[in-house]
Amino acid sequence: MHPRDARFDWKAFAAEAIPTKTNFVPLEIVLTDIKTTFGEARPALILDAGCGVGVVSRYIYSRGFSVVGVDINESAINNARKSTAGLIKVSDERLTRYLNFSYADILRPASSVIQANAFSGAVCQLVISIIGTDQDRAALLTNLFNALRPGGYLYLSASGVSDDINPMYAELYCSDLEITKEPYTYLSRDDQGRALYVTHHFSEEELRDLLQAAGFSDIRIDKKRETSSRRNSQSANFYYCYCRKPL
Ligand SMILES: C[S@@+](CC[C@H](N)C(=O)[O-])C[C@H]1O[C@@H](n2cnc3c(N)ncnc32)[C@H](O)[C@@H]1O
Repeated sequence: MHPRDARFDWKAFAAEAIPTKTNFVPLEIVLTDIKTTFGEARPALILDAGCGVGVVSRYIYSRGFSVVGVDINESAINNARKSTAGLIKVSDERLTRYLNFSYADILRPASSVIQANAFSGAVCQLVISIIGTDQDRAALLTNLFNALRPGGYLYLSASGVSDDINPMYAELYCSDLEITKEPYTYLSRDDQGRALYVTHHFSEEELRDLLQAAGFSDIRIDKKRETSSRRNSQSANFYYCYCRKPL
């Protein structure tokens, strides 16, 4: 059991400081698969789960999809809406596509915002590592599975165990174990050392098991060495997961 409530931490997090990544090369793989599978005549609908201020949602929209971005942080959703106001009018006058942002908790079962069997794709960048406990991670994947239509695709990125490439993480896993009670889990802190939220680093096997347990098939997991989403000077491993809800 973690000592912190992840929902509380993320509701209170400063929207402008929400970590993100803007390398969309791994995401392109799944966007191409979705277009190939579901066709381009009618824009496919994508769920961006834990969208923050909408960085990834706007990219997906720019690639020709309709997007629903959801997040538990209200000011992030407000910022995302503001940043979108001109975008739809300018780039898509016929409104055949849409880009909506809504406040929603992705750990809760289907709602009017995240409807069951509604999405051709779900995208979840940098969320599963910070969503809370192991039960929360499983609930997240079950909810994403339920939101997808049969044959729909999930793209998920996650922080990987990084003590083999960065001794700072080895130290953090060890020093915070007493608090987090979970291996490869630590408190992300600000520059003053104040705890912000709990982060879990995954092994590939752990991710595969979680995805399989949620019902996903055709699982592919790529590992990449990059820099931390909050600390550009720190090397970290990341996993990029691709899978499908069976037809
Ligand atoms: C590391 S940020 C990533 C943001 C975004 N995916 C990106 O890459 O730009 C994690 C996001 O997950 C959101 N989040 C955390 N718990 C959530 C929950 N239970 N429901 C919805 N969003 C949540 C946070 O508010 C935050 O915006």
